[in-house]
Amino acid sequence: MVARGGGGFRGGRGGGGGGGRSGGRGGGRGFGRGDSGMKRGGGGGRRGGAPRGGGRGRGRGGGMKGGSKVVVEPHRHAGVFIAKGKEDALVTKNLVPGEAVYNEKRISVQNEDGTKVEYRVWNPFRSKLAAGILGGLDHIWIKPGSRVLYLGAASGTTVSHVSDLVGPEGMVYAVEFSHRSGRDLVNMAKKRTNVIPIIEDARHPAKYRMLVGMVDVIFSDVAQPDQVCVFCTFL
Ligand SMILES: C[S@@+](CC[C@H](N)C(=O)[O-])C[C@H]1O[C@@H](n2cnc3c(N)ncnc32)[C@H](O)[C@@H]1O
Repeated sequence: MVARGGGGFRGGRGGGGGGGRSGGRGGGRGFGRGDSGMKRGGGGGRRGGAPRGGGRGRGRGGGMKGGSKVVVEPHRHAGVFIAKGKEDALVTKNLVPGEAVYNEKRISVQNEDGTKVEYRVWNPFRSKLAAGILGGLDHIWIKPGSRVLYLGAASGTTVSHVSDLVGPEGMVYAVEFSHRSGRDLVNMAKKRTNVIPIIEDARHPAKYRMLVGMVDVIFSDVAQPDQVCVFCTFL
């Protein structure tokens, strides 16, 4: 995983805007290897990866009703939250309430004014960025309103949480060269309007730069020996 803030990738599309807020310091304990992080198990998808096809939507792994038992607090990284219940869990505010992406648990919390907010549990065993946050990264550079170029999007597991994190004012340009993973990524992006899926080789930005606007952050998780070289292409 390589991340850099303040980068500039100039292409054909612009948009988005700044943003950001801060919250109390978050912690994190009690993560199991299951899909939830709140408690073990509850998955049912493929081992080690997002379910292919049919794994999205209202199906299994669905809503965990938080109600009065779960309190959600802002993490010190803006746009990230900690659900404090029987076990703590890292969560993001679901941009598409009612929809899971990879059978992750969802937590619905009622505000004092009666409105409900849905959060999705972000499993650090499925996402290096989540693991990094729980591991104490000082900066993730990504915040509400950020425009992110994400290299190595795979099926969109982490991308979906980055999409939640940057929110409707932000944008995620998600690059993945595997057509098989890209199919899930494209399906996910159909409901997440702040995700632009790009099925291309990240090593050849000239092939997709016309799809990408100026970005604030470049995040790379292509997991290749030349990953740093790929990243340096953009410097
Ligand atoms: C470790 S996985 C990424 C996981 C993903 N970041 C997540 O957390 O959900 C690495 C991904 O990078 C993709 N990849 C590897 N080399 C690439 C390249 N040159 N261009 C685009 N994608 C690449 C692979 O197909 C694979 O899906």
